[in-house]
Amino acid sequence: MNFETTIFRYKEMKAYQLNAPGDISQLQIINIAKPFPSENEVLVKVKAISINPVDVKVRIGKAIYEKIKEDRPVILGWDVSGIVETIGSKVTRFKVGDQVFGMINFPGHGKSYAEYVTAPEDHLTIKPENISHEEAAATSLAALTAFQVLRNHVKENDRILIQAGAGGVGHFAVQIGKILGAKVIATTSTQNIDFVKSLGADDVIDYTQTAFEDVLKNLDFVLNALNEDVLRRSILTVKKGGTIITLPSGGNSQETFDLAKEYDVIVSHQQVKSNGSDMHQLAEWLSEGKLKATISKTFSFDDLPQAHTLIETGRTRGKIVVSL
Ligand SMILES: NC(=O)c1ccc[n+]([C@@H]2O[C@H](COP(=O)([O-])OP(=O)(O)OC[C@H]3O[C@@H](n4cnc5c(N)ncnc54)[C@H](OP(=O)(O)O)[C@@H]3O)[C@@H](O)[C@H]2O)c1
Repeated sequence: MNFETTIFRYKEMKAYQLNAPGDISQLQIINIAKPFPSENEVLVKVKAISINPVDVKVRIGKAIYEKIKEDRPVILGWDVSGIVETIGSKVTRFKVGDQVFGMINFPGHGKSYAEYVTAPEDHLTIKPENISHEEAAATSLAALTAFQVLRNHVKENDRILIQAGAGGVGHFAVQIGKILGAKVIATTSTQNIDFVKSLGADDVIDYTQTAFEDVLKNLDFVLNALNEDVLRRSILTVKKGGTIITLPSGGNSQETFDLAKEYDVIVSHQQVKSNGSDMHQLAEWLSEGKLKATISKTFSFDDLPQAHTLIETGRTRGKIVVSL
């Protein structure tokens, strides 16, 4: 290898390109130029990435695929933890060598399935020293979602229901609900009951044994991380004037909105947004030990497509991460 080739290689990195919408075979490792940060961005050497259901949705051409498809190569991934390698000329919050984490450019083109990624400085925060890169990456999109929803709708002593309390969003929502002083009830299957109780839930309903709408009434708030059927049944559990935030994108039917009107319950969809100040709050809770990510499986970068296969089962306990 001559000198010029060596320099060229040094500026290259590996990344997963999404060739076209489809199955995991469309995720292909390519060598491309390392990105260069603009004036308000940092370049992060990626140490860990976390995988979310939205990664799969975009992979198959749904969610925000249409929005990012023209910006080639399409590189999935939003959650990242790593080390600042270069900073843009106007960056003030970080210096080279800082360990940082966050959710980059959501809802937009995140590009974290790579050895290096650029990120606006105000999408990141400093990683607490007592937390691994894997735990930090895990505490990005899912934890931000739980935080951005609950802080707007939940106050001390509210009785709230977290649907899918064992999942990525749910396991953070149970913990954040408790931090905010709410009485937290969560649904899960038999195998995850002890896990969800260990997160601090006051009450756990095993959905394989009990229809939650038969035992819950007059709740102040429900976070729905599941489907429209669960959303409809959730309406029956909320007090007049109470609120349900539903996370899956895709419109709900008129019947559902009619039912919400009949029961005088507010139903709306909320989408998580990149936000470094919110990440800072999550980092504080992580460093104080008030918030903890559960990682059920860690994959190597080469095996990243298998992480998609696993999250597609809809049975993930906590989070799935990729370690570099
Ligand atoms: N709007 C937004 O900004 C936003 C942000 C984040 C996520 N989301 C969406 O929210 C949804 C959830 O995301 P996630 O990351 O939490 O998913 P996830 O980690 O894949 O959720 C898996 C969990 O769902 C539980 N589950 C499955 N069926 C259930 C049921 N009938 N009742 C109770 N729990 C059930 C499973 O527990 P068991 O194995 O015990 O059943 C499992 O622990 C996805 O559709 C995602 O795209 C939207």
